[in-house]
Amino acid sequence: MPARPAGALVLFGITGDLAKKLVLPALYRLEERGDLDQPIIGVARSDWHQDDLVRHAREAVEDALGKPKAEVFSRLADRLSYVQGEYDDSRTFDRVKQRVGPRASSAVYYLAVPPPVFAVVAEALAREGLNKQSRLVVEKPFGHDLSSAKALDQKLRQFFPEERLFRVDHFLGKESVEDLLVFRFANGLFEQVWNRDHVQSVQLTFAENLDVADRGGFYDPVGAIRDVVQNHLFQVLAYLAMDSPSGSDPEAEQRERTRLLRAVRTLSKRNVVRGQYDGYRKVEGVKANSTTETYVAMRMAIDNARWEGVPFYVRTGKCLPETILQAVVELKPAPRLPQLERHNSVAPNLIRLRMQPSAGITLDIQAKEPGPGYRAKTVPLSVDFERTLGPTQLAYERVVSDALSGSRIHFTSQEAVEQSWRIVDPVLDLPDLPVSYKPGTWGPEQAERLPGREGWIRVDTDI
Ligand code: NDP
Ligand code: BG6
Repeated sequence: MPARPAGALVLFGITGDLAKKLVLPALYRLEERGDLDQPIIGVARSDWHQDDLVRHAREAVEDALGKPKAEVFSRLADRLSYVQGEYDDSRTFDRVKQRVGPRASSAVYYLAVPPPVFAVVAEALAREGLNKQSRLVVEKPFGHDLSSAKALDQKLRQFFPEERLFRVDHFLGKESVEDLLVFRFANGLFEQVWNRDHVQSVQLTFAENLDVADRGGFYDPVGAIRDVVQNHLFQVLAYLAMDSPSGSDPEAEQRERTRLLRAVRTLSKRNVVRGQYDGYRKVEGVKANSTTETYVAMRMAIDNARWEGVPFYVRTGKCLPETILQAVVELKPAPRLPQLERHNSVAPNLIRLRMQPSAGITLDIQAKEPGPGYRAKTVPLSVDFERTLGPTQLAYERVVSDALSGSRIHFTSQEAVEQSWRIVDPVLDLPDLPVSYKPGTWGPEQAERLPGREGWIRVDTDI
């Protein structure tokens, strides 16, 4: 049965960071496109009134997207209203019920609140009968390890069945991540080499040049593995390595990604290097003796016929020199050409897939260096997709729009969540100190050697 479009959006935690940085700007974009036609009810404990909410929304849009168009913002502002209350007080949910009125059954309840509050709100909605036919959207992190993810799922599923439970992983909303599927399967040139016969190794880098900033209290109990590896980077890994979906429905894509995650070998300590940037322990909200990693590099393996024996290297960190999300696929060397000069070492072909900050690809190929004799030289073939194809939508624009229309395509499943926790479980909360690194460097030296003597392939920032 096709999902019903949402009659109302109820955004719990509208006063918070996520709502400000990502959800409200996404709603503005949807309003601009003419894709919103429901009231937006913000819920939070702060003593705010309508004016505070509208001011907050304007600031949110200005910070993320620049000065809003007056008529678009005014339409958005007209949809907004505010319900104040504590989540352990049934009167709060009574007020929510009054506000959504007859739209209650087709409402989308979006939980932009800290994870310990997810189950509390879900249960309170159910007590008011607001869980019948409505959808519940929950943000990451979904649990903090495998067993807590299972427990949270059990709890939420008491009130919302799987088909009405939407688990956000906003990397699934990034068009540049989805493009991996098109690039791999719509190009015979690449589709045929995407396996153990032709690929030497795969490296995935998600670097951020920002520090933890004012999120110390959130980040310290979490760390890099939980914050971005278990969720975002494993989804990218799944797109990079999965088989082609066996149908056009969203479930087929989801099934293949999950099948790939099932084949990823559980990590062990010896394949992981954790780092912490100098100065992290002085951040407000961070413990003075914190052992939380702000950097991690890992060697991974995929136990299936396509990837047997091919190492996958994944790294991420805060305070690195660049902000970039890039995968580099290194192809096996071609047999040596007898004509080439003896000392001319030939670099491998590299396929660089850049997903952020702007999507594009660069292929490192070999060409004859001008001059006498035969010498091979690496030359890049590059394309920037935005320059060539035009702008893409924001990840949250797609996530929110799908939640409203009921499409599950950009959400993750409980099985994918559990598989991802299974992979990282043995390397969570390791008691040893992470290796320190200087802000502005590529992380600890030990991590440099993880992919072997040559180290990490340089990420390519100027396509
Ligand atoms: P915040 O800490 O900003 O909290 C959001 C709102 O929740 C606050 O404004 C506050 O509103 C309310 N809140 C805070 N603590 C409690 C509490 N103990 N009980 C009830 N309500 C509380 O969080 P974020 O907005 O950063 O994150 C919200 C969710 O989104 C989290 O699950 C987070 O992991 C996820 N997320 C966040 C991202 C980000 O960039 N911020 C990115 C991706 C996911 P009030 O006091 O007014 O009720
Ligand atoms: C969030 C993490 O989920 O993703 C942040 O909590 C991280 O620490 C962010 O910075 C990265 O998302 P994006 O879309 O800005 O690359």
